[in-house]
Amino acid sequence: ATVGVIIVAAGSGSRLGQAQPKAFVPVAGRTVLARCLDGVLGMREPAQVVVVAPEQWRAEAVAIAAEVAGVAAASVTVVVGGATRQLSVAAGLAVLDDAVSTVLVHDSARALTPPALLESVVAAVRDTGDGIIPGLPVSDTIKRTEAGLARETVDRSTLTAVQTPQGFPRQQLVDAYSAATEDYTDDAALFAAAGHAVRVVDGDPLAFKITTPWDLRRAETLVDPAPT
Ligand code: C5P
Repeated sequence: ATVGVIIVAAGSGSRLGQAQPKAFVPVAGRTVLARCLDGVLGMREPAQVVVVAPEQWRAEAVAIAAEVAGVAAASVTVVVGGATRQLSVAAGLAVLDDAVSTVLVHDSARALTPPALLESVVAAVRDTGDGIIPGLPVSDTIKRTEAGLARETVDRSTLTAVQTPQGFPRQQLVDAYSAATEDYTDDAALFAAAGHAVRVVDGDPLAFKITTPWDLRRAETLVDPAPT
């Protein structure tokens, strides 16, 4: 495969308020990670898939990966993540096959991301050679605040709410990771800090991140229940 997909699933998910880390929380009977893998393995082009899991949940991640990959006749590698998202991505980058030339970095928490979004990001990386991020227009009015006071309204026509998968030419991303000296909240910021262009393509509302209990309820209304 010339596409590698790194699914970061090593966060604690504390804002969700569940006992288990977010990737292992069920959405209508099937875990966030299993549902995310369904989408990734639904891509028409075969990809090397790497799941980055919390150390204590490695075996569980392997079992979920085997179940989903078995159905798709694909293979999924599981590695253990780090203390920050950036360290978790780096752990995934370290195990990519030599043949991989395009890398997608994807949050497992965006469990309902459709295969078509992943495919469109891959296509845009290949077409442009730039970093590619899916984004959606911001619908709320956004204000900058200070100590509870609204200071100014930000022109929302200049804003984009950014999702994953974020896609990059593999070697530039690996070099940008080697050069990174601070912690970034997304891969595009790290990639841009290394001097590369980052381009926005249309995101998909289904690629929303499950962060709060409200998001989990929304996800549950959008999926078919797991067969029992
Ligand atoms: O915390 P947040 O929802 O922004 O995390 C985004 C993604 O990064 C999640 O899928 C989470 O599992 C992952 N992550 C990780 N390793 C960390 C922190 C977050 O893989 N140390």
